[in-house]
Formats: sequence, structure tokens, C-alpha cells
Amino acid sequence: MAQNASFLDFRDLSAQEILDLFSLAKKLKNDDKSFQPNLQGQTAGLLFFEPSTRTRFSFEAACARLGLYPFALFGSEGTSLEKGETFEDTVYNIAAMRPELLIVRCQDDLDLEELSENLPMPILNAGWGKRGHPTQTLLDTFTIWEQMGSAQKFKILFVGDIRHSRVVSSHFEMAKILGYEIGICAPSELLPQKTDGLKVFGDLSQGLSWCDVVMTLRVQKERHDNMILLDYYHDHFGLRPDNLKALSPNALILHPGPVNYGVELDKKVLKDPRTRILDQVTNGVFIRQAVIIRSLKAKGKL
Ligand code: CP
Repeated sequence: MAQNASFLDFRDLSAQEILDLFSLAKKLKNDDKSFQPNLQGQTAGLLFFEPSTRTRFSFEAACARLGLYPFALFGSEGTSLEKGETFEDTVYNIAAMRPELLIVRCQDDLDLEELSENLPMPILNAGWGKRGHPTQTLLDTFTIWEQMGSAQKFKILFVGDIRHSRVVSSHFEMAKILGYEIGICAPSELLPQKTDGLKVFGDLSQGLSWCDVVMTLRVQKERHDNMILLDYYHDHFGLRPDNLKALSPNALILHPGPVNYGVELDKKVLKDPRTRILDQVTNGVFIRQAVIIRSLKAKGKL
């Protein structure tokens, strides 16, 4: 079966295709020039309708390293979105300029599936509402396997705003394919509405003793701006040097960013030798290069 050139979620990916992406990202990281296509003179359209630092710059860096020129829209300022043009029309108009691919961050209500059926170029999901953030999930798992080896069926604990997290949504999809275990730990108002079949830890230290990897998530202050809740959160669910004693010395500490220091994570945790937060960011560029190459190959452009 032909590969779907767009990358919106993990539905069409097999375990082997994910391993091939990791293998390619590793070769790119090792600066193996034989895996470095030259796409000089071609373009990629970046459409970021929501704020971003890591995903936006790493996709830009990935395009630049492949020779693709990234032309970009970040937010509505200075664009015809300010005059009432819709997100959908914006995508169709940028697509009409014929970039090789589109890289889109948007809210849930923009129908990326329909757009990818109607447009001739692949669409890459760069964070789609609460639905998913598959390149983040790939870079997380790549970072874990880089440290632990791909043979290990690790156990990952997500702590925090599980209910609104597109990162966790994508991990639920990918864990089914790769076979790793997921546990969750959060105050009841931040747990998913349905927790049947999920491994839920009410107590953080129990979760930390269980897992090989802990990923704490940003508390979305825009949804939870009550300081009492944040203080409560930090006391019961924040990662701190004292409660991280429950975590194995060989475990890893991850965060997709951006971090609210003093809420989900103490700044001192950055100095913990188990922390790999900036390695995630570094790996994000290689993973996104690999995803771009996969899509352009599937489209017959490479
Ligand atoms: N991890 C992540 O998506 O970060 P940004 O929102 O800064 O891109």
C-alpha cells in the first residue's frame, strides 16, 4: 500500500515505519551526508495559527538544513486574517503558491483531514488542537530510545494536564503501535473524562516509583489561572528534587515545553542528570527533517 504523504496522526503508520523514521533521524544527527537530500530552490509553507517556539523553529531549521526555503505565517498580525479571512481560506491561498508541503499548527476546528484530501501537497501536523502533536511524540520516543535502547518496552508516566494535552493524545496512539506502557497522574479535574482501562496514579510518588520515564506537562494557565490551584498543584503534582527521589536513578525526566517553573517543575530539576528536556529540543530538528523526507518520498518528490 502506498504511504500517505501527509502526517496528521499515527493511524497509517506501522511500527516499522516509525523505526525507519528513527533510523533516518539518527543518520541525520550523525551528519551522514548520504541521507541529506538537497531541495534547493523549493519551498515549504509554515502556517502557525497558534503560538509556538520549539515546533516552529525546529521545522524552520529542518527545512533550512534540507535546502527547502520555509515561508511562514505566525499568528494573524499583518495578514488578511485580521481582515476576516478564514484559516481555511488562508491555507488554500498559501497552497495555491505551490509549496512542496504545508506544516500547520491550528485549533481542533480546522479540518486538516479534509484539507489534505483536497490539496496536492502533503500536510504535516505541527500541533492540532487537543487532537495530536505527532512529531512531538516521535521526538520524545526517539530521545527515550537514544538513552535506553530500542529493545526496552519502557513505562512512561504523564503528570499534569492530561485532559487538554495533544502530546498525550498522540502518545496513546503511538504506544499501541510500539507497545510501551502509559500511566497518568493528575488532579481529578485534569484527568481525561474517561479513564477506563488507563493506569491512573492518584499519588505522584507511587507513579514515579512505577515508571522509567516521567513527562510532566505544562499547566495551561490560560485555563487554570487560580493561584490557589497552582499552589496546590505544585505541592501535589510538581516535580521537585525531594519527590524525584522516588524515581529510579536510570529513569528520564522529560517536558515538551514551554515550562512553568515553580508549578509543574522546579528549576533545580534542570540540573538533575536524568533530565533530557533540551535533548528533546535538539532531537526535534532531526525528527522533523526525517518526517519531511518521508512525506516528500511518499509524494514521489525524492
Ligand atoms: N512542544 C511544543 O509544541 O512547544 P511549542 O509550543 O513551543 O512549539
